[in-house]
Amino acid sequence: MTKIAPSILSADFAQLSKEIRDVEEGGADYIHVDVMDGHFVPNITIGPLIVDAIRPHTSLPLDVHLMIENPDQYIPAFAEAGASIITVHQEVIPHLHRTIQLIKDSGAKAGVVINPATPVEMVRDILNDVDLVLLMTVNPGFGGQSFIPQVVHKIEQIDAWRKANQLNLEIEADGGINRDTIRQCTDAGADVLVAGSAIFKQADRKQAISNLLQASER
Ligand code: DX5
Ligand code: ZN
Repeated sequence: MTKIAPSILSADFAQLSKEIRDVEEGGADYIHVDVMDGHFVPNITIGPLIVDAIRPHTSLPLDVHLMIENPDQYIPAFAEAGASIITVHQEVIPHLHRTIQLIKDSGAKAGVVINPATPVEMVRDILNDVDLVLLMTVNPGFGGQSFIPQVVHKIEQIDAWRKANQLNLEIEADGGINRDTIRQCTDAGADVLVAGSAIFKQADRKQAISNLLQASER
């Protein structure tokens, strides 16, 4: 079953609870929360305060994507605020296993993310320990960028390792996902598809989600 995770980065921040309700009623599976620090990525977005504020407004898991340096410093605060899944970028973490353990100890599910130019081998030795692998299909920092098709083979590779080792993890793709690009990801083995502009920039979010699901069908 393909899961859809609308990214609130493209939502109207002045009406966040209404926006989240809209996609929850429209059939979303997770709410994707993009956290940016102006250091790891050239943009600044939200912190634990906003996660805490939206938590009571949805029963869906909050999928918190940390695009920040020193994630260890903030993981407990995001977990405390109500993050259900916390994903961290391999590129900024010197002791990945320790950070994944910290997420789990904080009570959230743990995931690792890699950028489009990072080789998939960089996460191979952590697959046993994570609940989710997120493959960036754009360079992180902004919504509305174009899908990078060279990432698709990495989805296939994680799926192959997952099957070979009978691992219980989800594969998520994030960036430039729309009706034209979603199918390549689901065919390759992606289970969770993040979409910002393809959902929040549409007037009818329920229709947007069902269009994505329809386009993803294998
Ligand atoms: C990019 C973020 C994405 C972004 C996706 O840095 O991680 O989650 O919101 O937006 P779209 O779907 O518009 O590419
Ligand atoms: Zn994201």
